[in-house]
Amino acid sequence: MNRAGNEAVADLSGKTIVLGVTGGIAAYKAISLVSLLAKSGADVHVALTKSAGQFVTPLPFVSLSKNEVITDLFDEPNPREIAHIALADRADLVVIAPTTANFLAKAATGLADDFLSTMLLATHAPVLVAPAMNVNMWNHPTVRSNVARLQQFGYHVMTPAAGNLACGWVGEGRLPEPDEIHAQIVKLLYPVRQDLNGQRIVVTAGATREHLDPVRVLTNPSSGRMGYALAQAAAARGAEVTLITGPTQLQLPSSCRIIRVTSAAQMEQAVLQELPNLQILLMAAAVSDFRPANYIPNKVKKTEGPLQIEFVRNPDILLSVAEQRKAQQFIVGFAAETEHVEEYAKGKLVGKKLDLIVANDVSQVGAGFESDTNQVLLISPNEQVQQLPMLSKMDTANAILDKVHQLFSERTVNE
Ligand code: C5P
Repeated sequence: MNRAGNEAVADLSGKTIVLGVTGGIAAYKAISLVSLLAKSGADVHVALTKSAGQFVTPLPFVSLSKNEVITDLFDEPNPREIAHIALADRADLVVIAPTTANFLAKAATGLADDFLSTMLLATHAPVLVAPAMNVNMWNHPTVRSNVARLQQFGYHVMTPAAGNLACGWVGEGRLPEPDEIHAQIVKLLYPVRQDLNGQRIVVTAGATREHLDPVRVLTNPSSGRMGYALAQAAAARGAEVTLITGPTQLQLPSSCRIIRVTSAAQMEQAVLQELPNLQILLMAAAVSDFRPANYIPNKVKKTEGPLQIEFVRNPDILLSVAEQRKAQQFIVGFAAETEHVEEYAKGKLVGKKLDLIVANDVSQVGAGFESDTNQVLLISPNEQVQQLPMLSKMDTANAILDKVHQLFSERTVNE
């Protein structure tokens, strides 16, 4: 599959990105960009131009990308290949951020006098340039015509942001923020149909935490990645997404409205509050089924003997949803199982009055809570069980959304 959603935590594993950094004051922002790309799982290769080296050093890029940083066209670390051609061939995307006026001119005229400009001529990958410069330079007719020429070549050019510029002028010329460049990168790597345009979708994600005392919690190892991937993918496909998230290590996606919760009770409250306005609910959170019967306001002290804690059942959010939902709403549950996956999931589909359940065997390698990949069954009341192959979480998210979209559209047509 070759499609995914948007955003900062988007799954870019398996993607090779060449990031060219040219010599502007905004070069420091490229460090954050590499950090975001690396967090998304991309294989990032950074090339610094000579003048970029005046602003930043290779070290942070090496540390974050875990790859060598290229600074010299003639530095050939591997005698079996020619570095600029090898990287040009391997790249899924070339990004140049920041792009100086000088580099725009070089790229527009085909100059090839350093690694980056030479690699650029050799690549078939799509190219994203993010110019950053003084507002008057940006508005200069030469720069404008260079940008137009690059666009004719099919390069994607981000418009600089307006604001205070390092030179003291105010106007267009700032490098867009790293998360905006990252979002653009995801869009280019995973162009998407807008088939969920305007749909109001709520996604829950992550584990809940049930406090025993101020410093101890009952939780589970859910990373939130599946839910975040669903939220981002749905937003990228045009949906208005609200993400109700338990605490996670993930970067919050900027394309979604965010509601942060900690406990199952808070998550239930947030879901029920959103329920009247949503069309599709994707309940991907790993909700804690139990919580300590009593919250102890001060830290429980160590004792010599065993500690007895009484747990009580948490509300089953989907059961509450089942009572309050409208028939035309589309409710998706998730079942993480370790045995009898299909059988147990079918029981939940019926018991929780779901329109679709996404089931996975979390004991399987590559399908567990903290894995980058997932392998799921899609089970709905009137269709054959569909087994998806092992996919990245982003591709799994899109395959789930394909199914949701299909079943939800069929329902709308049949109404
Ligand atoms: O019954 P089980 O916990 O396996 O069902 C999983 C599904 O139910 C998931 O979609 C999960 O988000 C949801 N769930 C819930 N409330 C709970 C526990 C799980 O809505 N207390």
